[in-house]
Amino acid sequence: MCGIIGIASNKLVSTNIIQSLKKLEYRGYDSAGIATIVNGEINEKKCTGRVDNLEKMLFKSPSNGSLGIGHVRWATHGIPSQVNAHPHSSEEVSVVHNGIIENSNELKKNLEKKGYKFKSQTDTEVITLLLTDFLKNCDLVDAINKTLKTLNGSFALGILFRKYNNIVVGARRGSPLAVGYGPEENYLGSDSYALKSMTKKITYLDDGDVCIITNNKVDFYNSKNKKINKKILILSNDKYNVEKGDYKDFMSKEIYEQNITAKTCIKEYIDQLRKDINLYNFPIQPIEIKKIVLIGCGTAYHSCVTAKYWFEELTNIPVEIDIASEFRYRKIKFDKKNLYIFVSQSGETADTFGALDLCKKNKVKTCSIVNVVESSIARSSDFVLPIHAGPEIGVASTKAFIGQMLVLYILAIKISDLRKEISRLEYEKKISDLKKLPDLIKSTLDYCQNSIPIIAKDFLKAKGVMFLGRGLSFPIALEGALKLKELSYLHAEGYPAGEMKHGPLALIEEGLPVVILSPKDKYFEKTISNMQEVIARGGKVILITNENNKIISENVRFSLKIPKTDEQLSPFLMTIPLQLLAYHVASLKNCDIDKPRNLAKSVTVE
Ligand code: AGP
Repeated sequence: MCGIIGIASNKLVSTNIIQSLKKLEYRGYDSAGIATIVNGEINEKKCTGRVDNLEKMLFKSPSNGSLGIGHVRWATHGIPSQVNAHPHSSEEVSVVHNGIIENSNELKKNLEKKGYKFKSQTDTEVITLLLTDFLKNCDLVDAINKTLKTLNGSFALGILFRKYNNIVVGARRGSPLAVGYGPEENYLGSDSYALKSMTKKITYLDDGDVCIITNNKVDFYNSKNKKINKKILILSNDKYNVEKGDYKDFMSKEIYEQNITAKTCIKEYIDQLRKDINLYNFPIQPIEIKKIVLIGCGTAYHSCVTAKYWFEELTNIPVEIDIASEFRYRKIKFDKKNLYIFVSQSGETADTFGALDLCKKNKVKTCSIVNVVESSIARSSDFVLPIHAGPEIGVASTKAFIGQMLVLYILAIKISDLRKEISRLEYEKKISDLKKLPDLIKSTLDYCQNSIPIIAKDFLKAKGVMFLGRGLSFPIALEGALKLKELSYLHAEGYPAGEMKHGPLALIEEGLPVVILSPKDKYFEKTISNMQEVIARGGKVILITNENNKIISENVRFSLKIPKTDEQLSPFLMTIPLQLLAYHVASLKNCDIDKPRNLAKSVTVE
């Protein structure tokens, strides 16, 4: 997944392109590039690494021109290198691309037979040379349509043409793309976040759409090459501050603002005065719901696993959970009485969007729980529940996870009330318990602040790490392992504690760090006996509990006692020491906290 930008203006564009690329770096940061038209020639500049490197390059030799495209890359085809960085240009055409061309090898062979030479290992260069080839015998629109028809796969494209030096062309199939309208200039961008600093007026392209942008006009064409009008949306003014402030990185800021995330989310959904949850106009009457299907990827999927326990416990509705990349290719028996819920921070994750699209094609009711309300997933679902966490910049998701779990829990309570599965008293108790959560999160953050950096040192020489939990702590163990993997590059596994003796116990050896999540709940005793099995084999246990019991902590390496809370709220507090552990192990290893290697914040390719 990459980020693309394009600007057609009557003034120099490189500065704005660089600023927008910096905003798009959460989509990819292994290389960057820009192309402009200067004196009728395509002027291309690209480099490996961050946009800062490209900016330095432009300081030395500026890219003039009032027409330009730019790109930040997350490599799919071809290693991160200068030659594989985008744009990919011929003398006539320059292309930036986000997506994957699945038939690029075949198309490459055909073009090589025609004598074309490829400079890069990318799938994208095929588009450049196809356009170059078609332009020999076709006019612009024909060359574009013939090229797009030849491509299999997903793409969001920004294209410059040497001969047509006042237009930027955009095209979308599968990957998100938006147009922005400015005073005497117009823009093309992967999402509203990249365009927001230049305009609040945008239009999202749909699959099959092509747009031709000049500095004072934008024309749209659909997949049948018919000219169409598109809706212009006005973006909301950001009430969130996206600066790091005094924090060293965005991730620590996002971890330490989770009590505010919880407070904002609760304020948006709960009417404390009337002790009620403001959730109405469900796409399907809660009483009629036959089954709930929860779908997501990565951390979002872990919030789905956690919610399965809450929905089953509170609503008495059967729940299925699914990883989106598996759901979308399985033979699914759709049912119009089911509610399909999609969880996604970015709202642009290709697999989750693909699963949603499949549900829409099968005419079932969909609900999305997102952080980016202008995202493709939000715009395509019947019912949207924002998590109100504000922009999350760190690639490793933290506050969005808390927000996702919170909205799912609030939804479960509301549905259980509307289905009369819980009494009014229980309903109001749960609402008042939620009110205490932001402060409990704050005290857990304060409690862990000094202890976790010490514990983190113990992980530096570890060969691997296990995270174990039962019930609601099992998905939190999964999340703890994911955070440690994606931030510190240590191999880690989250496992149901009861499953250890069926194999993974073989991994336990002298000194292996094993994080045990054991809040005082119906699984407590069982989890503690699993802990003893690990200690007996030399495992170095880090126990995280909210139970004050000296005996259980006897043979453990470290014991963390976090604040006590209602059993069903323990995931919110159990998560925090695990986020901080991953953060501090990664800091001690000098890993890039906000932009871990090989990852990106929004995965817009399969
Ligand atoms: C989490 O830290 C990761 N960045 C990743 O697993 C993420 O949760 C996943 O890609 C889903 O992203 P989404 O919530 O934006 O759909």
